[in-house]
Amino acid sequence: MLRDMLAPSQAAPESRADQSSPRDRPGEPRAAVAEGRSIVLVGLMGAGKSAIGRRLAARLGLPFVDSDAEIERAAGMSIREIFDRFGESAFRAGERRVIARLLAGPQIVLATGGGAFMDPETRALVRARGRSVWLKVDLPILVRRVSGRNDRPLLAGGDPASVLADLAQKRDPVYAEADVIVSCRDEAPEQTTNRVLHALLAYRPPRRVRVPLADRAYDVIIGAGIAARAGAHLAPVLPSRRVVLVADETVWRLHGEKVEAGLAETGFSGRALLVPPGEGAKCFAAFQDLIERMLAGGIDRRTGVIAFGGGVIGDLAGFAAAVALRGLPFAQVPTTLLAQVDSSVGGKTGINTAHGKNLVGAFHQPRAVLCDTALLATLPVRELRAGYAEVAKYGLIDDEPFFAWCEANGPAVVAGEAEALAEAVARSVAAKARVVAADEREEVAEGGRALLNLGHTFAHAFEAETGYDGAVLLHGEAVALGIALAFRFSARLGLCEEKDALRVASHFAAVGLPVRLSDTGRRWDAERLVARMRRDKKATGGTLTFVLARGVGQAFVARDVAEDDLRGFLREEGASA
Ligand SMILES: NC(=O)c1ccc[n+]([C@@H]2O[C@H](COP(=O)([O-])OP(=O)(O)OC[C@H]3O[C@@H](n4cnc5c(N)ncnc54)[C@H](O)[C@@H]3O)[C@@H](O)[C@H]2O)c1
Repeated sequence: MLRDMLAPSQAAPESRADQSSPRDRPGEPRAAVAEGRSIVLVGLMGAGKSAIGRRLAARLGLPFVDSDAEIERAAGMSIREIFDRFGESAFRAGERRVIARLLAGPQIVLATGGGAFMDPETRALVRARGRSVWLKVDLPILVRRVSGRNDRPLLAGGDPASVLADLAQKRDPVYAEADVIVSCRDEAPEQTTNRVLHALLAYRPPRRVRVPLADRAYDVIIGAGIAARAGAHLAPVLPSRRVVLVADETVWRLHGEKVEAGLAETGFSGRALLVPPGEGAKCFAAFQDLIERMLAGGIDRRTGVIAFGGGVIGDLAGFAAAVALRGLPFAQVPTTLLAQVDSSVGGKTGINTAHGKNLVGAFHQPRAVLCDTALLATLPVRELRAGYAEVAKYGLIDDEPFFAWCEANGPAVVAGEAEALAEAVARSVAAKARVVAADEREEVAEGGRALLNLGHTFAHAFEAETGYDGAVLLHGEAVALGIALAFRFSARLGLCEEKDALRVASHFAAVGLPVRLSDTGRRWDAERLVARMRRDKKATGGTLTFVLARGVGQAFVARDVAEDDLRGFLREEGASA
């Protein structure tokens, strides 16, 4: 049986290693390359996977293994014979087992057969355990290299030029899922090896944060520049390569080409549906228009919806994905800090109504979220700062050390420094993922998702009073002010110490966020604010519900907050009677 022949080999590791053994060669610093993962070369026949792989292994002092040779050795027959006797699918199954075994062992450089990476399970294995490199070679060079060779079953009887062109058309979009792509010219193998090595050393794997929601679990992938590889990240999680890309006009003008090319690389096709920027797009009319355009363009149950923009686009496109054809697969590529650290994660989608914000919507989890921190470079600094309020919020809820990190690094985050931004996004997403995993639909009575509303009861009242006009007060600015008030209110009620409230306010002030009513440059009416808070959808049974704090990192849900206490507090804070 082919299955048995390709079963895990008992051979000593040396027997599968090429002559370029690590022992006689010090090699380049291995730890620096691929984080100790095996390097897996993929590409069409003739791309040079073995020639380059062997040289690369020698340079790194790693064993080299050619999966085809390993399969032939394990099966005791040539690939051609395996194809002839058992057929391609049996060969692929054996190949998958061999590659799984090799990747379970110590770090190697592995050259794979041209079809190996086409197998979804093999690709998933390589993604999980290896670092894949596509040796991308122009067709004429490949044709020249493979012409006259008769050891390739797929070439049997065909004209190499047309066989290769066919293969390239099918396979290139899948090879493009590789972590690293190296365009190989007609050059000496040493030169290509150099370029592969440099590309591997320069490669920074994106961070991944899992949102563990049983069969709806997904990854939030975070890194600078990852939108340009959107297709490679989304292909493994979307059921088809047909998508509808929903973007706001500003974001599309600035970054549309990048994400479009990133999707096309792995064969995604579809249309971009643009929406005017701003909160106004989260309304019934814009929602209906979007759905009609999606349907007019032709969608089916496997068509993916990708939200490309800030929280407005995520909420609008997510809601459209939740209800069109009773639910389409959905992914988010958030482009504001607020959307990256908050709204894109957790599955809340929806639109506003005349009765208030986010009152019509659905829970619809994305299949993946791609947070490209480089996209934030074009975000107006005021927007970046506003998004930062939600970052610090996670520390204030239940993670004092993270708030201390914010105190040390907040200024670098709002200055747009790459490392600080990436860290802030990753830690915030991890915090949100934890809360969402424990309370996906905001049903837990104590704690849970409701804690994410720290500062929000105040914030929503300010936003409602200003007509949700971002020119006056952005959501994140209202949240910063609301959080500062929530801590001072907590101190006034004797729940936390005065110094905690001071600590919170001085941090937000240090990054340029409002912390006093007077910082908004407006006058506020205490009675009107209380009335707004009474109408907030978080108010139940006529009592006021607030997220208050017993200290930094110790937020809790307080029900039965007395309106008189609140009124008195707001007056002390400078609201008019
Ligand atoms: N679903 C949730 O869990 C959740 C959580 C929090 C907030 N929200 C919602 O999110 C929305 C606010 O999101 P937002 O603050 O991202 O607003 P937004 O989507 O309106 O974006 C803010 C502005 O920035 C522009 N922009 C976006 N990305 C840019 C970029 N990279 N470069 C330059 N300009 C860019 C947009 O065109 C827009 O003008 C609100 O509707 C709120 O209700 C939802």
